[in-house]
Amino acid sequence: MFKIICKKELAQEITQITVEVPLVAKKAKAGQFVVIIIDERGERIPLTLADWDKDKGTINLIFQQVGFTTEKLGRLNPGDYIEHILGPLGHPTEVKKIGTVICIGGGVGIAEVYPVSRAFKEAGNRVIGIIGSRSKELLILEDKMRETCDELFITTDDGSYSRKGFVTDALKDLFDVVEKSTHTKYPDLVYCIGPVPMMKAVSELTKNYGIKTIVSLNPIMVDATGMCGSCRCTVGGKTVFGCVDGPDFDAHQVDFEELEKRLKLFKNQEDKIKGQS
Ligand SMILES: Cc1cc2nc3c(=O)[nH]c(=O)nc-3n(C[C@H](O)[C@H](O)[C@H](O)COP(=O)(O)OP(=O)(O)OC[C@H]3O[C@@H](n4cnc5c(N)ncnc54)[C@H](O)[C@@H]3O)c2cc1C
Ligand code: FES
Repeated sequence: MFKIICKKELAQEITQITVEVPLVAKKAKAGQFVVIIIDERGERIPLTLADWDKDKGTINLIFQQVGFTTEKLGRLNPGDYIEHILGPLGHPTEVKKIGTVICIGGGVGIAEVYPVSRAFKEAGNRVIGIIGSRSKELLILEDKMRETCDELFITTDDGSYSRKGFVTDALKDLFDVVEKSTHTKYPDLVYCIGPVPMMKAVSELTKNYGIKTIVSLNPIMVDATGMCGSCRCTVGGKTVFGCVDGPDFDAHQVDFEELEKRLKLFKNQEDKIKGQS
C-alpha cells in the first residue's frame, strides 16, 4: 500500500499526485514508468514517472482523467492509498552529451517530457523545449520547463496563449531560422512525447531534415513485463514490446498507423464503463 501525500490540480482534468514509494524513487530515471493498481478490484495502468525525490522517497505522477481508472485515481486524496505500484519499468531514456536537443511535449505528454528535458540539460546539452496544448487552460508545467530549457516555445491549438498552432509549427519555425542563417545549425536530436498523431507529425517533419528523433510510445500495456503481448508495436519492420523494449524508439522506424489502431482496440468497452468508476 502506497500513501498519497499531496495532490494538485494542474489543469482541467490533469492532476498531479505525490506518492510515498521509496524503492521506486531510489531507482527512477528519466523516461521510465510505473504500473499502478488502485485497489483489489482495479486494473493495471501505466503512468510515467513525472518526477521523484530520492531523499523523501516520493514520486510524482501526472495523469489526465480519460476513463474508468484515471477518473477513479482522480478521486483519491492525500491520506488515501494506492494498492500496488510496480516499477521503475522500461528502459531509461538514453541521455548523452550530444549538443542541441529539442524536447517536445504535447498535452499530458509535457509531464513526461519534463524529466527527460532535465536529464538532457544535466548532461550538458543545450535544450530547446516546445510544449503545446489545446488551449491556455490545459497547459501544464510551463514554469518547470522554463527553468529547465535554454529556450522554450509554447503553442496552443486555439491561439489562447503564445503561438497559435501545433508543436510542429513551432518546430518548423526553428528549422526555417536555421535554413536562413549562417551561424545556427539543426538540432542533434529531437525527443517527443504526446498523442500519437502529434508524434507522427513530428516524425514526418524531422525525417525530411534527416534529424534523429526519439518518441516515447504509449501502447496499451497490461502486465508490462513482456509476457502478455498487448503492447506490441512494429518498429523498423520488427515486432517489439513497448514495455520491455521501450518505451523510447526511433521515430522514423515506427508504424504509427498500427499503433493508433491498436490503441482503439477496446474503445467500445472503455466507452461503456466511462464514468462508472
Ligand atoms: C508507458 C506509458 C506511460 C504513460 N504515462 C502516462 C502519464 O504519465 N499520464 C497519463 O495521463 N497517461 C499516461 N499513459 C496513458 C495511460 O496509461 C492511460 O491514459 C490510462 O491507462 C487510461 O486508463 P482509463 O481506465 O482511465 O481509461 P480507458 O477509458 O480505459 O482508456 C482511455 C484510453 O487510454 C489508453 N489506455 C487504456 N488502457 C491502457 C493501458 N492499460 N495502457 C496504456 N494505455 C491505455 C487507450 O488509448 C484508451 O483508448 C501512459 C501510457 C503508457 C503506455
Ligand atoms: S504490456 Fe504485456 S508484453 Fe508489454
